[in-house]
Amino acid sequence: MKIKSHVPKGNKTDSWSNAEADFDNGNDSLVIFGNPVMESWEKPYMKKLADTACLKGGKVLEVGFGLGIASSFIQQNAITEHHIIEANQDVFKKLQDFSKLSKVKVFGYQGLWQEVINKFEENSFDGILYDTYPINEKELHIHQFNFIKTAYKLLKPNGVLTYCNFTSWGNLRKEYKDDYEMFEKTQSDKLTEIGFSKIKLHQVQVNPPESCNYYQFKTILAPEIIK
Ligand SMILES: C[S@@+](CC[C@H](N)C(=O)[O-])C[C@H]1O[C@@H](n2cnc3c(N)ncnc32)[C@H](O)[C@@H]1O
Repeated sequence: MKIKSHVPKGNKTDSWSNAEADFDNGNDSLVIFGNPVMESWEKPYMKKLADTACLKGGKVLEVGFGLGIASSFIQQNAITEHHIIEANQDVFKKLQDFSKLSKVKVFGYQGLWQEVINKFEENSFDGILYDTYPINEKELHIHQFNFIKTAYKLLKPNGVLTYCNFTSWGNLRKEYKDDYEMFEKTQSDKLTEIGFSKIKLHQVQVNPPESCNYYQFKTILAPEIIK
């Protein structure tokens, strides 16, 4: 499917669930509404996010299944439960197939995280990985912070959160000298306001192809954020 824009145009919140998900070249990229939602070159970064979310073992929550790359890496860790929230129905079907073959038990939830999050108890997760997509144009740079407020409550004390917002960071990064400055100036304060004080940043090498229109840098940070 042809990429129309690297940022969402208009508010897709209501229609995202039923939109057709295009898995190009088998499972190499995921395009929804002409937006590049996920591309497989992100793999090394997804491994770092997955391993970070599993640092404490136990019960792990993942938000956004996409191509299932991070999910596969999560499954390679010593955890006891793997909970995954996915909004898009076509992507959710892939999640269901994935869960049939999974080593660690998968609990899948179909819907926007905003719709299903009340199912979960406070202080119940050891690790959380958030990687969704800004389906509301106005929230391009900030959607993660709404979730992170909730994540703070869902995590057990000493639990670990990791997240990314590639679509936002690919834009923001152009304004700062490096990844660290970008993170410090655009993310750190908000995490501290929410209540997180222990933040460690891991720099990961990536190699986006020229065809990628949302990220053109060779590194990206995977945050390890402890409650
Ligand atoms: C960038 S992809 C995730 C990529 C994934 N980490 C991987 O390794 O393949 C984002 C996914 O989040 C889903 N999504 C977007 N907004 C969501 C929301 N509010 N709640 C749940 N899922 C959402 C999209 O449908 C898409 O499947």
